[in-house]
Amino acid sequence: MNLYPLLRPLLFSLSPETAHHLSLNALDHAARLGVLKQTLPADPVTVMGIPFPNRVGLAAGLDKDGAHIDGLAAMGFGFIEIGTVTPKPQPGNPQPRLFRLPAHGALINRFGFNNQGVANLVSNVQRSQFVKNGGIVGINIGKNATTPIDRANDDYLMALEASYAHAHYVTINISSPNTQNLRSLQQDDALEALLAGLKDKQQRLADQHGRYVPLALKIAPDLDDLQVDAIASAVRRHHFDAVIATNTTLERAAVMGDPHAGETGGLSGKPVFEKSTAVLAALHQKLAGELPLIGVGGIASGTEAVAKRNAGADLVQIYTGLIYQGPALIREVGDALVQYQRQQHRPAI
Ligand SMILES: Cc1cc2nc3c(=O)[nH]c(=O)nc-3n(C[C@H](O)[C@H](O)[C@H](O)COP(=O)(O)O)c2cc1C
Repeated sequence: MNLYPLLRPLLFSLSPETAHHLSLNALDHAARLGVLKQTLPADPVTVMGIPFPNRVGLAAGLDKDGAHIDGLAAMGFGFIEIGTVTPKPQPGNPQPRLFRLPAHGALINRFGFNNQGVANLVSNVQRSQFVKNGGIVGINIGKNATTPIDRANDDYLMALEASYAHAHYVTINISSPNTQNLRSLQQDDALEALLAGLKDKQQRLADQHGRYVPLALKIAPDLDDLQVDAIASAVRRHHFDAVIATNTTLERAAVMGDPHAGETGGLSGKPVFEKSTAVLAALHQKLAGELPLIGVGGIASGTEAVAKRNAGADLVQIYTGLIYQGPALIREVGDALVQYQRQQHRPAI
């Protein structure tokens, strides 16, 4: 039974951050009691060398510390991306830092990587029953706010080293708008040095652990064609394993006039769909299937998920749509993608 339409008015009467914590704790309880169990239709696919049970993932940022993996997994996701986690714990920005724009099916957040550090996240992953049962977890890593941007690579290397053995894949997040100058790492020389250092570290860690853990790069939607081209060339040259497109946007055109449109932070949900899908399509064109792509940004129904597949995504992720629609959206997206897959393989008559 879909209870979310009943629960949503209650949750939306609370502050967004309070509702966030309450929902995650309630999910954990429900999953432990076995009253929450949603199963998606099987849609197996191997991406980055990893066998996924279906193509629908949770996007990073909802479970920054990996403290709610089992509750989230009970909703049927084929994979869960936790983080962004930084080497050291940090409080993030002062509250309020999360805002609802219900008229637009959108959120604005300026959390600023509030998290309890990578060591704590690793111990949470180790405790997760989902992980013990072979469930797929990606760990999304970032830099501490106090680390100067010209030392950012050290933070990524540290976080990669600490998380490597516990992840199915690791995401390098250089696209959050809420950490000063982070997005400058998407530019030529900085990107070059970062990717080279990470690939070198990945090779060493693969030798050390006897296991290759793929690296995905997560990029912003606020990039022009030339920037997308440069990123595509760099990930290809450095043999990155995937690109995740995209993070939240700084643009406000689509939400002008909303009481919260002026809040600083990243805008997510329906208004980011077009930009995010355009960046995905441009990447796909440039990379011509050489690298898998994960499409995220503004999926609010099966239709947008299918559009991401058409634009070149092998897998999709959702966040904001889940806040507005609850677990039924995961199922709807899963069903739509199975249907899409069947149509692709239907013989022509
Ligand atoms: C409240 C909130 C916090 C987020 N935190 C992170 C984060 O820590 N790391 C990250 O890579 N993306 C983060 N994101 C971005 C999402 O993972 C996703 O890329 C973006 O919201 C677009 O997808 P959506 O429209 O389905 O929400 C966050 C998004 C929201 C709404």
